[in-house]
Amino acid sequence: EKGTYPHYMLKEMDEQPGVVRKIIQEYSNDAGELTIDEAILSAISESDRIYIIAAGTSYHAGLVGKQYFEKLAGIPVEVHIASEFGYNIPLLSEKPLFIFISQSGETADSRQVLVKVKELGYPALTITNVAGSTLSREADYTLLLYAGPEIAVASTKAYVAQLAVLAISAYVTGKRKGRKIDFDLKHELAIAANAIQTIVDSKEELHKISKEYLSHTRNAFFIGRTIDYYVSLEGALKLKEISYIQAEGFAGGELKHGTIALIEKGTPVFALVTQAPVALNIRGNVKEVVARGANACVISMEGLDEHDDRLVIPKVHPLLTPLVSVVPLQFISYYAALDRGCDVDKPRNLAKSVTVE
Ligand code: M6R
Repeated sequence: EKGTYPHYMLKEMDEQPGVVRKIIQEYSNDAGELTIDEAILSAISESDRIYIIAAGTSYHAGLVGKQYFEKLAGIPVEVHIASEFGYNIPLLSEKPLFIFISQSGETADSRQVLVKVKELGYPALTITNVAGSTLSREADYTLLLYAGPEIAVASTKAYVAQLAVLAISAYVTGKRKGRKIDFDLKHELAIAANAIQTIVDSKEELHKISKEYLSHTRNAFFIGRTIDYYVSLEGALKLKEISYIQAEGFAGGELKHGTIALIEKGTPVFALVTQAPVALNIRGNVKEVVARGANACVISMEGLDEHDDRLVIPKVHPLLTPLVSVVPLQFISYYAALDRGCDVDKPRNLAKSVTVE
């Protein structure tokens, strides 16, 4: 039930700090250490390549998940859009593990891939919010998101939950493989939960930002580099699906290869700056669009030379920034949709779970 909330989406965004805390708890053992099911841990550790299959927001979570598995567990990962993969299966490695990411566990595009993967005899793990869903029942293994029911069509808390579960899986695998990991993920996730809370508590400011940048526009751009690029894709999807503002997310360095032609006076550009190694580069991209008249909204992380930035998010571990930086983008989209009188929870032409191919 949405209780006193005007929309499920608002309630679900507010729940995000609690979701991260719940996941920490559900994935901790009696000794208080992060853990996942032993059989799943073996399946991941033994694979020579992970194939992540998903759609929409879950696909965007998969792009971040690739970073986690490669950096923490040392396993190469390919991330594929479900509707593409099934009809054009790439050359597979010798010991592939398939990971299906799906909030609902009912997405037909992902299911058709799972059916093919099972025919080929490869192991499959589903990461889902719905115990007993089709993708969960048909895969060999399941990891649950523990996010509670997500009703709004726009996925918010499930994305954050997917990132947390992917991070835990990759971290635990890396530890099992004896890889050098120099941070305590449990501690860092708790810090991220607090950082999300700080953003949730700054809704009024986020509403202002939304008005400032999106009141009179028909398009908007989201840019970032490396992990911020993946979050910018998610920011653009959120905005377009609920406010119907045409939005595009892309890698900052790609601007000059075409998209910059679209920048005119007043065009909103949201730039994420959370990754120290590319902070200067993305700030350079911001200068390029501002020089062409863009209305740039820089969202950076504390400690990255944030003096003139429109919004500064609290400092978290560099791998966990997506759990936090996505949250202002969700709120900004929510308020843009609200101010335009859109049906926030049930945008036109969309269904919560897409059970047709
Ligand atoms: O239930 P799933 O995670 O498999 O759904 C995948 C997409 O349909 C879903 O993420 C969709 O893109 C959302 N409406 C995005 O907010």
